[in-house]
Amino acid sequence: MSEGADAKPVEALNEAEAAAELARLSEEISRHDMLYHQKDAPQVSDAEYDRARRRNAAIESRFPALIRADSPSARLGAAPASGFAKIRHSVPMLSLGNAFNADDVHRFYARIRRMLELDEGSPLEMVGEPKIDGLSITARYESQRFVQGATRGDGQVGEDVTSNIKTVKDIPKVLPTHAPQVLEVRGEIYMSKPDFAALNRRRFEEGEAPFANPRNASAGSVRQLVPLVTAERRLQFFAYSCGKVEGGNIGTTHWAFLDRLRDWGFMTNPLAQLCRSPDEVLALYDRIAGERGTLPYDIDGVVYKVNRFDYQERLGFVSRAPRWAIAHKFPAEQAETVLNDIIIQVGRTGTLTPVAHLTPVTVGGVVVSRATLHNEDEIKRKDVRIGDTVIIQRAGDVIPQVVEAVKAKRPKGAKPFRFPAK
Ligand code: IVH
Repeated sequence: MSEGADAKPVEALNEAEAAAELARLSEEISRHDMLYHQKDAPQVSDAEYDRARRRNAAIESRFPALIRADSPSARLGAAPASGFAKIRHSVPMLSLGNAFNADDVHRFYARIRRMLELDEGSPLEMVGEPKIDGLSITARYESQRFVQGATRGDGQVGEDVTSNIKTVKDIPKVLPTHAPQVLEVRGEIYMSKPDFAALNRRRFEEGEAPFANPRNASAGSVRQLVPLVTAERRLQFFAYSCGKVEGGNIGTTHWAFLDRLRDWGFMTNPLAQLCRSPDEVLALYDRIAGERGTLPYDIDGVVYKVNRFDYQERLGFVSRAPRWAIAHKFPAEQAETVLNDIIIQVGRTGTLTPVAHLTPVTVGGVVVSRATLHNEDEIKRKDVRIGDTVIIQRAGDVIPQVVEAVKAKRPKGAKPFRFPAK
């Protein structure tokens, strides 16, 4: 997200500046939604995106009269791209609010206790489970048979990817006879890190552009028009929630529901844990954060969910997220280094990707000497110049990104980068 008026704290904005900021943020957020949801090619980290959304929300709460008709707070993701039939979700597929530190988590607990009018002594159980950095989908079963698979899309309308989902081995095609008559299981499709590396190696050998990270690779694989290609991609699936359920029982708690999912043949995440206090939840966060690097798949945080379904129902939803769940995000791993050169990589199809050549630096335990600058617009927008000191980041991504140039450290005479005309 570009900085600009961003530098100014929300409290210091006057009304005209606030209106201009809301217009700018609406435009930027929808651009990034489109890049993320339709092109599977995000240009900013989740942290930057979340910062923009929070800034937008903060300005809206200070200037409610300025809330725009196209406010990003009221929309979720981008409408689906063409190529697949559209499916309206029977129950919307929502997003999650974020927590970035222990204070946010304590506030989340306090709000829930207040809304449920629980006194101090009464227990409030949460299930904590990794937030899988993949593609969320819904799988519908009728009479215990898989009948339809859809992507989240904008949360209301997704894409019909039934034929592709059928090729995912973790998604059972038939459920035991005691499973509900109608059941929509939701969860995350992901690609393991080794499968991702092997896929990119193959693509490299075949002269195709590599995927930036496993998330993009899984999204790209599910949204393939040829199911055979999806089948070759070895996608995996963790189940973690449901949509419509009829003629059957999913239990009275999330923890019991996870048990049933396993009984019906789904994979659930083995790190999920039932927690009885904010301290237990935060200890789980630390443990999962510690294991993050050794897990064979990408995660970008830990999700906490109120265990009891009757509590979940009473808490309900606000615009785009349930009040009974929150995603406690991991901080993006960043480091500062020097940009020594920008080399243009040419893909087989002629796509040009500028690659930053850096003085090697360790970010989150990995030595990084190259980072992507995505494309020409991105270099212009960030005004990154050869010789600059830059902030680089690894955030759930395997390919590190250049976040920004540290303008204060810019060497005299550094010139704007000129993208080759040929
Ligand atoms: S629960 C109504 N649990 O994160 C709540 N979501 O940022 C449904 N995600 O749209 C979401 N791992 O795609 C839930 N263990 C998990 C998750 C998870 C990844 C994704 C999901 C959701 C997004 C929200």
